[in-house]
Amino acid sequence: MSDFDFSVPVKKDERLAGQVALILGAGSSAPGMSIGKASCIAMAQSGAKVAALDLHMSAAQESVDEVRKLGGQAIAYEADISNFEAMQKAVNAVVADFGRIDILQINAGVGKVGGPEETSLEDWERVQKINVESILIASKLILPLMVKQGGGSVIGVSSVAGMRYLGFPHLAYNVTKAAVIQFIRMLAQQYACQGIRANTIVPGLIDTPRVRRLASSTASEDVEKLRQARDKQVPMGRMGTPWEIATVATFLASSDASYINGTEIVVDGGLIGKYS
Ligand SMILES: NC(=O)c1ccc[n+]([C@@H]2O[C@H](COP(=O)([O-])OP(=O)(O)OC[C@H]3O[C@@H](n4cnc5c(N)ncnc54)[C@H](O)[C@@H]3O)[C@@H](O)[C@H]2O)c1
Repeated sequence: MSDFDFSVPVKKDERLAGQVALILGAGSSAPGMSIGKASCIAMAQSGAKVAALDLHMSAAQESVDEVRKLGGQAIAYEADISNFEAMQKAVNAVVADFGRIDILQINAGVGKVGGPEETSLEDWERVQKINVESILIASKLILPLMVKQGGGSVIGVSSVAGMRYLGFPHLAYNVTKAAVIQFIRMLAQQYACQGIRANTIVPGLIDTPRVRRLASSTASEDVEKLRQARDKQVPMGRMGTPWEIATVATFLASSDASYINGTEIVVDGGLIGKYS
């Protein structure tokens, strides 16, 4: 089941024509297709101009290269999303290059395997800063632009692990991914009357290069075994693909989702139902 087709399965359309999408965490943590990279490509395929921002310029540039190969427009930016000054500079650069920001996808996320005894205060703070404080920083910098423009769409990326215990302790990740949901709900309430919609995608187990990193941090060195175990855990018998998240992000950004606000879309092949 793991050998799912990873070729670009998103067709061109005009749903996001004229819009500028800023994707935070637009790269991939290892070679392969991540959610951020697939989101850059999918949004560009729907006509958006893409600002691909990542901690590593090379990762952002890879996503930009993929977009351009397909005839789309994109520029790479480097910043740590948990650093206010770096983000201020990057957002200024995006506005200088594209003139506006209509779509904000806050995609980067990190974790630390372990429960309370294994999670140091330093790790807790780092995960909290990258997964949650980054939303505050992006909101402070980008919502005023969206208000001035008369609207926009904000997309948070949480995880089923923010709603349920999935079988191993991942405390800092679980707690911060729960916070993503509530943060985005609060934005949606406050900014709805200014034309801004804010929603969260809640992915289940997705087959991205991150799985490789998880394999080393859980001491299960055999990546293939871990992938197979993740496939088996899902009622549909396979992990999701990054495209299956990216297409939902494109939908949420588009006018097809014009009345969807302040909520979550769980994209998990039925996984969460096992833990309800
Ligand atoms: N893969 C899964 O199974 C899964 C499941 C549920 C939720 N998610 C969430 O989806 C999102 C993307 O996951 P992925 O598996 O595609 O991840 P990934 O690790 O492959 O990619 C994340 C990207 O974010 C960037 N990044 C990390 N910290 C950053 C920072 N401080 N500033 C800027 N960029 C930073 C990395 O460099 C990387 O390019 C994450 O928020 C993750 O928690 C993933």
